Amino acid sequence: MSRSSDLSGSTGESRSGHTIFAPLSPDQVSTGAAVFGEEWRAALADHVRTSGDPYDAMLLLRRPVARSTTAAVLPGLPAAQRNAIGDLTLAWIDALGPVIAARRPPARWSRLRRRETLARRALEDALRAVPGLAPPGQLATMLAAGIQVPIAAGAFLLAWIAQHDSVDVDPADAVWETLRLTPPTWITARITTREVELAGTTIPPGRVVFVSPLLLGRSSDLVPGETETLPRFDPDRWRDHAQRPGAWLPFGAGPHSCPGRSLGMAQLITLAQWGLAHGITLSEEVSIDQSRGIFPAPCRFTLAPRREAPL
Ligand code: HEM
Repeated sequence: MSRSSDLSGSTGESRSGHTIFAPLSPDQVSTGAAVFGEEWRAALADHVRTSGDPYDAMLLLRRPVARSTTAAVLPGLPAAQRNAIGDLTLAWIDALGPVIAARRPPARWSRLRRRETLARRALEDALRAVPGLAPPGQLATMLAAGIQVPIAAGAFLLAWIAQHDSVDVDPADAVWETLRLTPPTWITARITTREVELAGTTIPPGRVVFVSPLLLGRSSDLVPGETETLPRFDPDRWRDHAQRPGAWLPFGAGPHSCPGRSLGMAQLITLAQWGLAHGITLSEEVSIDQSRGIFPAPCRFTLAPRREAPL
């Protein structure tokens, strides 16, 4: 695959002047999906070798997701270089977390901001060192969005699967139910560029409109099943149903919708197949951290000994 296909994004600008990221190509998605499968198995094997503790989903998913997304976004790079960039992206995500979670935006010279700036610069420098790539700032954003969100979605997915009794679940349906009840990007925003009518309200130009996949996912107009069943995790609601999943916009919509949607789905379906085959049990109750998007913390689990499927 040629360098010029790397990122494939940065194809133009929307009316707001923001970069528009082109969707990953099918080749990029299959490269990333293959790496996710290999790295997930490797992460499990490492955990077994080095620890007798329960698995921690938020930790366990870091390397597989980082390497998978980096492989998809930068397919022309040797694995060692890609993986190093994946590690730098994780370091930036870790440094960015407390900045986003802070009640008030931390000052530029604060310890939090300095740490975040250094981590971002280290990532951008590593990207700048590779000739022919898209601008490092855009690539860094793409990588961070494409690593942080699937880690959170994957951990939620394992938590839901662990709490669900029924066997014979379609892995894709389990993924959609997870993205319905706990979409990591639970709110997105747009600014109106002209007057619009929305549900009987006239909104003037220049206003911020929030769109919440979390709330839309509980709307009986968009999801099959009786209203009282909507808060429940029930992958079978999608089985044989004419209504297609995704109308609650877990990947957003329009020019700024998620360019990594197919890769995210591929990573999560692989994970769902594994989770459903292994009878996982939560080690403690899961709480939801809402400080930057939503993610389950802690999310620790064990494998039920009754099912002896290979890792
Ligand atoms: C399960 C996994 C994922 C979910 C649920 C998800 C969800 C979302 C959502 C809701 C948005 C906002 C869209 C909007 O405002 O209309 C978004 C944007 C974005 N996502 Fe994802 N995403 C996932 C995986 C990925 C991956 C794997 C990548 C990259 C490889 C990625 C890259 C991005 C980027 C760059 C944006 C910003 C788009 C823009 O502002 O133009 N995402 N994602």
